[in-house]
Amino acid sequence: MDRVKTGIEGLDQLLFGGFLRGDAILVAGAPGSGKTSLGMQFLYNGITQYQEPGLFITFEEFPQRIYRDASNFGWDFRELEEQGKLKVLFTSPEVLQQDIVRDHGLVNEMIAEIGAVRVVVDSISHLHDSGQGPRGFREAVYGLVNALKRESLTSVLLRELREHEEIGSGPEEFVADGLILLTRKYVGGHHMRFLEVLKSRGSPHIAIPSLLSLGEGGIRVLPPFQEPFYRFEEAVSTGIPKLDDLLGGGIPYGSAYLVEIDADLHQDIFDAGFAKEALEAGDSFMRVAGQSDEKSRWRALMKAAGMEQMLQKGLDMGEVTLLWPGGKDDTSHHSLEALREEVGRVCGVASQRRLRIQADVSRLFSLLPPGEGYAAFSNLTALCRGVDAVVLGVVSPPTIPAEQLEKLRIAADGIIRLWTEGSYSYLQVVKTVNSARSPVYAINQVPRPPFIEIVRQ
Ligand SMILES: Nc1ncnc2c1ncn2[C@@H]1O[C@H](COP(=O)(O)OP(=O)(O)OP(=O)(O)O)[C@@H](O)[C@H]1O
Ligand SMILES: [Mg+2]
Repeated sequence: MDRVKTGIEGLDQLLFGGFLRGDAILVAGAPGSGKTSLGMQFLYNGITQYQEPGLFITFEEFPQRIYRDASNFGWDFRELEEQGKLKVLFTSPEVLQQDIVRDHGLVNEMIAEIGAVRVVVDSISHLHDSGQGPRGFREAVYGLVNALKRESLTSVLLRELREHEEIGSGPEEFVADGLILLTRKYVGGHHMRFLEVLKSRGSPHIAIPSLLSLGEGGIRVLPPFQEPFYRFEEAVSTGIPKLDDLLGGGIPYGSAYLVEIDADLHQDIFDAGFAKEALEAGDSFMRVAGQSDEKSRWRALMKAAGMEQMLQKGLDMGEVTLLWPGGKDDTSHHSLEALREEVGRVCGVASQRRLRIQADVSRLFSLLPPGEGYAAFSNLTALCRGVDAVVLGVVSPPTIPAEQLEKLRIAADGIIRLWTEGSYSYLQVVKTVNSARSPVYAINQVPRPPFIEIVRQ
């Protein structure tokens, strides 16, 4: 798709590359929320980074103030005007509306003169005030947007929001192809700015309120998610390809990741997929702190995945260990010491193979004496670092004391969160070795591998 990049760090990411060419984008926000700055930067970046001249139409401020505000960010608008790449037009809504519909109007001539590709109107709220009432306003916006589209311009229309005024009901919101909302919120007693893409017709976008910072060089948008800093060359699959992708390739050897999962979601979402991947890759697999019918449960799971024989062979060869319980008549002594021994034994047996451990951390806490649950997890983590193994611990947060959970989170190299809100369940990667932090995805449970589908909003 032909995108018009804003060149504003973070914003293009939310827009999957930028605005669609020829679109009219409404940017609404309270006074001081950063509308004019965003408009100016859209034009400045267009000219200096993408060779796209632009027109700044203002009903609000004299050009002198625009030059001054721009220079505040280090942008020389006067110079760009002299180079014929920019025009700053100060006019009234009435004059603009009459002029723009004329074939050889002043605005059309300006557009032609500099070859304008981008335009900013600051602000269309003034069309409101030109005494024509709501219907007149709708027609005025419609007429303006159409006139700009006829000139093939990509436009950013600024719109002032009064206090407590909600966006989403005015006529201009229907006329515009895209809608961006700028808000301010108190955080720690300080006013912080946020930007949210509410609509982008015909194109995906990420609708997450993202921090907007205004400073030297203009606006920066910092989405609350982070692409992985790097992708792992060699990593263990969670059994869910899309999740592996969000993690930057999977879980790297030598690390322990924690899955926090709500009680109303099936705790075994990861079981079959994670084990299957381990066996197929020729790694050893150990399940720690399963349920009382663990062996038959695994048989059923692996049968469903067509891997029953592989499981049996693994069990026979000692490459698959189901630890606590190991079967119906399991009487093993549940202690930290026993766990350590067992992991040591498996590493000894399978020293040619690498080990993947999947632990039900909630159950580990309930099996061990009080206070030993965290020690067991941190022991597993330490062990796995020592032998380059992977631990995937699944925990249901309400089942263990809050301060223990906090310690687990700190000890874990990565955290994947799954929870239910209303009628739906969601997933988010919040911590990884390579600093990934994903957006929130909806999840859909499906009856075939990988059993969950990760759905973008
Ligand atoms: N160089 C700068 N560094 C940091 N902040 C700045 C800088 N220049 C301007 N600002 C801040 O930007 C804010 C104004 O932003 P802007 O004029 O883009 O908002 P606006 O939404 O257009 O406001 P209005 O509705 O009043 O026109 C000011 O409150 C100012 O604090
Ligand atoms: Mg302004």
